[in-house]
Amino acid sequence: MNRARLGLPFARPCIRRRISALANGRPSYLEILGDRYPTDSITNLTPAILAKVPLRLHTRPSHPLNTLRGLIESHYSDFTHLSSLSPLVSPYKNFDELSFPQDHPGRAVTDSYYVNKDLMLRTHTSAHEVEVFRRGEDKWLLTADVYRRDEIDGSHYPIFHQMEGARIFAADATGMREVAEDNARLRHRLAQAPIVIEDVPHLAPTNPPQATHDPAYAALVAENLKLSLNSLMLTLFGGQAGVGGGAPLRVRWIEAYFPFTSPSFEVEVFFRGKWLEILGSGVVRQATLDTANVPNKIGWAFGLGLERIAMILYSIPDIRLFWSTDERFISQFTDKEITTFQPYSKYPSCFKDVSFWTAQGLDLHENDFCDVVRDVAGDLVEDVKKIDSFVHPKTNRTSLCYRINYRSMDRSLSNEEANDIQAQVVSRLEEQFGVEIR
Ligand code: PHE
Repeated sequence: MNRARLGLPFARPCIRRRISALANGRPSYLEILGDRYPTDSITNLTPAILAKVPLRLHTRPSHPLNTLRGLIESHYSDFTHLSSLSPLVSPYKNFDELSFPQDHPGRAVTDSYYVNKDLMLRTHTSAHEVEVFRRGEDKWLLTADVYRRDEIDGSHYPIFHQMEGARIFAADATGMREVAEDNARLRHRLAQAPIVIEDVPHLAPTNPPQATHDPAYAALVAENLKLSLNSLMLTLFGGQAGVGGGAPLRVRWIEAYFPFTSPSFEVEVFFRGKWLEILGSGVVRQATLDTANVPNKIGWAFGLGLERIAMILYSIPDIRLFWSTDERFISQFTDKEITTFQPYSKYPSCFKDVSFWTAQGLDLHENDFCDVVRDVAGDLVEDVKKIDSFVHPKTNRTSLCYRINYRSMDRSLSNEEANDIQAQVVSRLEEQFGVEIR
């Protein structure tokens, strides 16, 4: 937990002055998607993030994320498709409605973006489960931008896109007949397809069915979840152009844990010698369905990351490229077509190190460091690594050293420009966190 944001007292007066200057510098409100929201002591949304909220890449014609959404929507053509829900949600909706414990790390200001204590940017599309089930939808897909504070590298970006899919059935003999018929249909499709599946039991003792579920119903639903997603993997990655490249597609199921599903699973796909995590899923917790006012239903949900899949299908090497406005990127793509990305150039990178003592009594979380860099450098930062960390035995102060890799995706970055950005990063660290450069 970052103490600066919680306004806790510090030992050294000069630091206290700096921190309160920061609080005074905080705007009294933020304008997001046309509305104004008051800030408070936990506000941690940066201008760099705010600027990207309206962009909604998953709805831009010919953008790879939009094409991928379309492909998944056509696979689930008889589902309701939603893609315009606001990213602003209450922490209650993002966490509590989904049975997240009070002390779950995802709630921390170091991990999530807060407008104020009552409003945040959703961290996952599951935040809308209760709302959509409550509308009476029983098979639906929802695509949205989601936000998480994280490290900086080629596969992490603080904004990414997820697709949530869910299907619920009447928890009675009629509903289960429907599941069994669908299972038979899907099993038939998969039996003839070039796909090799490594599975785990639907209901393992370590990944139990819910106490309120009839075990036979839970098993049928878990089987439907797996068959349905195996079939989606085949649509996405199967065939000649897919990751199988002639060899059968390999998919594996792994036991997982999510507070809002049980049993829970992750799906991985084998690609270029590595297993890549594609999605999380499970049998929806009955508490979610009870809250949504559909207590007599039973069903499954999954959530997948669109960037991860698009990077594989399009051979896009860096997650920042999805945000590029460079013609050489955008003009490569046609609506509804998956093509291989042609890299136009890889410009040289510029490494800059910064070493400093943190202020006494103030933990500088890596995500706070990264947000400062992101806010100053925008998409010119490719990668940030902590290369050294130690505590001084006498003063008990922490020394940190980070290596920042600056590289533009569109042009050559001069050393002077990188130095200039680095100098701004350094002064922001001094002002905002009271660090002492070594
Ligand atoms: N919301 C989960 C995540 O972001 C994924 C998930 C969705 C898991 C639905 C289970 C069911 O990691």
